[in-house]
Amino acid sequence: MDKSTPIKINRRLHWFAVLTAFVTFLLIGLGGLVTSHGAGMSVPDWPNTYGYNMFAFPISKWVGGIFYEHTHRLLASAVGLMTTILAIWLWLGDSRKWMYWLGVTAFLGVIAQGILGGLRVTMHMDSLGIFHATIAQLFLVLMCALAIFTGGLWAELAASGGHDGSHFHPAHHRRDHAAPARRAGDS
Ligand code: HEM
Repeated sequence: MDKSTPIKINRRLHWFAVLTAFVTFLLIGLGGLVTSHGAGMSVPDWPNTYGYNMFAFPISKWVGGIFYEHTHRLLASAVGLMTTILAIWLWLGDSRKWMYWLGVTAFLGVIAQGILGGLRVTMHMDSLGIFHATIAQLFLVLMCALAIFTGGLWAELAASGGHDGSHFHPAHHRRDHAAPARRAGDS
């Protein structure tokens, strides 16, 4: 993409990225509930759930700690699907090459996260939960970044810098915003 070409905003893609970031935020909250209720091992197998395909596990059995762990896995599957769609959409619909790589990174991140969560269960390793929690937060930051980079505000900032946003320098823009504050301090 020519650096002077303005970014074309796809509103649907942007709102889908915002939704994915929001569902990820909810998932992290649900993961916190799994840990705080000590429910990490309440479903002892993975990727199955008590021998069932996880999507066919009867609702009547979603009780106690199983409720937190099972719904965490289900919501994680939804985030996995949404991240995959987002990555494909960015690949097909965004002309910025670096956005393609961010989509690929998000896809690999969600896969790694799912595998880590599963290994924490199958290997009975509490310590893997630490990495699982850390990657979860990095993943949320990435999803929020994708939501911002697909939005109109980013396109405006990039346009005012005269490029596609891949070499955005906050310092170029800070001057305008800092000016009123400086005037207030002078008086
Ligand atoms: C995008 C996918 C996922 C995200 C963002 C995510 C996020 C989280 C977070 C933030 C926690 C809380 C960690 C803490 O408070 O220390 C957690 C806990 C947990 N997650 Fe996930 N998770 C994901 C997928 C999965 C999957 C697929 C499994 C499959 C088994 C899983 C299993 C667990 C378990 C067992 C815990 C409890 C860890 C413990 O208490 O030791 N997670 N998750």
